[in-house]
Amino acid sequence: MESAPALEVVESPFGDEEEIRVDEPLPDALPVLPLRDTVTFPETLTPLAVAQERSIKLVNDVLGANRMLAMVASRDPEKDEPGPSDLHGVGVVGIVARMLKVPDGTIRILVQGTQRVRLGPYVAEEPYLVARIGELPDVTEEGPELQALARNVQSTFSEIVEQIPYLPEELQMAVANIDDPAALGHLIAGALRISTEEKQELLEEVNVAARLRRLSQILARELEVVQIGSQIQSQVQSEVDKGQREFFLRQQLKAIQEELGEEDEQQAEVNELRQRVEEAELPEHALKAAERELSRLEKLPPAAAEHGVIRTYLEWLVELPWSAQTEDNLDIAHAREVLDADHYDLEKVKDRILEYLAVRKLKPDSPGPILCFVGPPGVGKTSLGRSIARALGREFERISVGGVRDEAEIRGHRRTYIGAMPGTIIRALRDAGSRNPVFMIDEIDKMGADFRGDPSSAMLEVLDPSQHDTFRDHYLDLEFDLSDVMFIATANVLDTIPGPLQDRMETIELAGYTLEEKRHIARRYLVPRQIEQNGLKPSQIAFAEPALTAIVEEYTREAGVRNLERQIGTICRKVARDVAEGSSNGKVRVSAKRARELLGRRRFFAEQRRRTKDPGVATGLAWTPTGGDVLFIEATAMPGSGKLTITGQLGDVMKESAQAALSYVRGHWQELEPDLGEDWFSQQDVHVHVPAGAVPKDGPSAGVAMTVALASLISGRAVRNDVAMTGEVTLTGQVLPVGGLKEKSLAAQRADIKRVIVPERNEGDIAEIPEHERSALEFVYVDEVSKAIGEALAK
Ligand SMILES: Nc1ncnc2c1ncn2[C@@H]1O[C@H](COP(=O)(O)OP(=O)(O)OP(=O)(O)O)[C@@H](O)[C@H]1O
Ligand SMILES: [Mg+2]
Repeated sequence: MESAPALEVVESPFGDEEEIRVDEPLPDALPVLPLRDTVTFPETLTPLAVAQERSIKLVNDVLGANRMLAMVASRDPEKDEPGPSDLHGVGVVGIVARMLKVPDGTIRILVQGTQRVRLGPYVAEEPYLVARIGELPDVTEEGPELQALARNVQSTFSEIVEQIPYLPEELQMAVANIDDPAALGHLIAGALRISTEEKQELLEEVNVAARLRRLSQILARELEVVQIGSQIQSQVQSEVDKGQREFFLRQQLKAIQEELGEEDEQQAEVNELRQRVEEAELPEHALKAAERELSRLEKLPPAAAEHGVIRTYLEWLVELPWSAQTEDNLDIAHAREVLDADHYDLEKVKDRILEYLAVRKLKPDSPGPILCFVGPPGVGKTSLGRSIARALGREFERISVGGVRDEAEIRGHRRTYIGAMPGTIIRALRDAGSRNPVFMIDEIDKMGADFRGDPSSAMLEVLDPSQHDTFRDHYLDLEFDLSDVMFIATANVLDTIPGPLQDRMETIELAGYTLEEKRHIARRYLVPRQIEQNGLKPSQIAFAEPALTAIVEEYTREAGVRNLERQIGTICRKVARDVAEGSSNGKVRVSAKRARELLGRRRFFAEQRRRTKDPGVATGLAWTPTGGDVLFIEATAMPGSGKLTITGQLGDVMKESAQAALSYVRGHWQELEPDLGEDWFSQQDVHVHVPAGAVPKDGPSAGVAMTVALASLISGRAVRNDVAMTGEVTLTGQVLPVGGLKEKSLAAQRADIKRVIVPERNEGDIAEIPEHERSALEFVYVDEVSKAIGEALAK
C-alpha cells in the first residue's frame, strides 16, 4: 500500500528500526478501533486504512501515548460508526508501528497484533469507543496430533501460495520456519482471503489443535478453489493464445521450410487449402467446419483413404459462392429491351417478369415468387429463363430434374458413402459462382419417386421461401442460404406436378405458336441466329416468306419452334458449304422450291385430305402435352350380328363415348339415311378405330367426332376435309364443353384445318384466345350433335 503512487508519507514518527514494545503490561481498558470487513490476528503485522473521523482521532491519541489499541471486527460491515453491540466480543490488542497520511485526509497505519483479548464492558463511546479488556490465552495440548496438524497446514498452505499470485513467496518461507503451532495458525489465518466470519471464528478458537483442524479444512477447500480457478484461467489463456501461437508457429515453419528449400508435399497441400479457405470468405459455420477438416487433414497420412475424402470436401467448401454475388440490374426499360430482343410476343410472360423486377426494386428483400413456365416443347421456356438472367445481370444455371427418382440427386449423398457428391442444387451453385443466380429447374413435371426417397419433397424444401435460407445438402452437411436465388421452373404439363409443389409456384402458360407467329419468329430470331452460327453473313443468304411457310408446314409439326430452327439450320449449313466450296457467290435466295430441294423428302402432309376421302372418317382434336394434335376417328361396317369393336388402345371413357355415339346414330338413322333400314344395325358389325400411337387417347372430348364418323359411315357422305371437331356428346345428343381449346385450335391450324366445330358453351374460351392466334380459323358453335353432323358432312 505504501508504494501506491497517490500515497505520500508525510509523517513517520518512528523509524523502521525502532523496537516495538510488545511486552508491555496489558492495561485495564483500551481505545477500540472497529474493523470493517477484516480481522487481525495476534503476532501478525496488519496494514489498515483509517478514514472515519473518530478513528483518526483515536489513532492520533494512541500515537501520543503508548500506541496501544484494541482492534475488533464489526458484525455488520455496512454500518458506519458501529456501537458496542455491533462489534464482536473478541479482538486483538495491537501496537501502531507506522502511520502514513494520505493526501485525501485519511491515514494508513501498520499495526503489530500482540494478543487476543475479550472486550467489554465498554467504558466510553465518545469521542471513540473505549472498552475494558481481558486476556484470552491459547490452550495448547502438546502432542503428535498437534504436530501432524501443523505440518499438514504448512504443506497445504505452501501449495496454495505457489498457485496464488496475491500471496508473496516470503510467506511460504515464514510459515515453513514457524515452530509454534499457535503462531502458525494466526499467521495463516491472517494471510488467507476468506470471509470475515471464518476469520473471526478462527480468532475466537482458543484451543490451538481445534483451530488448526478448522484451518486445515478451510485450506483444503481453498486449494481446490485455487486449482479449479487456475484450470479455468489456463483454458481461457490458451484459447486466446492459440490463434496467435498457431499463426507464429506456422510462419516459422514456413520460413524454415523455405530456408531449407523444401516443403513437404502434404503440408504444402494443406497450406494451399488453408489459404483458399481464408480467401473464400466463408460464413462462420462453414469456416468452423473448414478449420475442423483442415486440422484433420493435417494429421492424416496422405495414403489414408480419408485423406482424399476430406480434401474433396474442402475443395467443395471453398468453391461455393458463399458470399460472391452479382449486382442486380433493376432498370425496367433495359429489361424490356433485353426480353424483346430475345423473344417475340409472349407479352403476358414479359409483363409478369417486369412486374417482378419492379417489386424487387421497391422492396429488395421481398421473397420473389417462383415462376413456373408451362407449355409444349420448344416454345421458349428455357430461353426465356436465360433472357431473364441477362436482363437482371445475373448468372444463369439450369438443372434438369426430369427422370430424377432419387432424392440424393437433389440433396446429395452423405459423406460416408464412397464417391459421395453434393446434390444438383449445390453443384449448380458452384458452377454459377454467385449466390444469386437465376436458377432454372427444367422438367419439374417429370420428376419420379421410388424407394430411394421422394425428390419432390427435397424440391419442396428448395422452393419454399420459409425454408430457403436453411437448405442443407447431405454432403456438405451445412446450411446454405438460397434466399437470393431466383428460381424458375419449367414443365410441359401441370397435372403431374405434385400439388404442394404447384402451390408454391406461380404458373405462366405458354401455349404454342401459329404459322404466322412462327414465320415471324423465324424471320426475326431464328434465321439471323442460324446464319450467324453457320458462319454466314446476312449478305450471303435470304429466306423468302413462302420458304418459311413450306418449312413450317411440310417439315415440322410442333407447337414450338425447335424443329423449325433445326430445319433453318440445315439449310444454312448446306448453303455455307456451297459458299465455302466456292460454288456459290453472291446472295443465295432460299425460295420454297430451293428449301424443298435442300431439305429433301417432305416430312408431314396435310393428311386429312387423303384420310377423309372416304365416308366414315372424322377429324378430331386432342390436347396433348406437346401442345395439341389432330386425331382421326375411323369407322367401318361389315356383315355380322350387330357387334361393336373398338380398337386403338383407347381409355375406358373414350370407349364409352364410342358406344354412346353408336347408340345415338342407331336412334337417328332415319334422319341420316332413310334408305338404310331398321335391320342394318343387327346385320352389320361396326368397327371404330383411332390410329396414331403417340397421342394419349382418353377422355370424352372425341364424342362429337365419333358420332360424326358413324353418321358419315351410315349416310355414305364423306366428312369435309377442312373441318375438325371437339366436344362431348350425351346419349340424347347434346354437346357438352371440353378443355384445351387454345392448344386444339393451334393444332388445327398446323393441320391446315379451316373450320373447327366446338361446343357452344366453349365460346368464352375461344374469345380468350388472342385474335392473331385464331384469325385463320372459323369456329362453328353447336349445342346439338345433329348440328355438328350437318356442318361436318359434305353435301
Ligand atoms: N417467342 C420466341 N421468340 C424467339 N425465339 C423463340 C421464341 N420461342 C422460342 N424461341 C426459340 O426456340 C428455341 C427453343 O426454345 P427453348 O429451348 O426455350 O424451348 P423450351 O420451351 O424450353 O422447350 P422444352 O420444353 O423442350 O425444354 C430457342 O432457341 C428459343 O430461342
Ligand atoms: Mg427447355
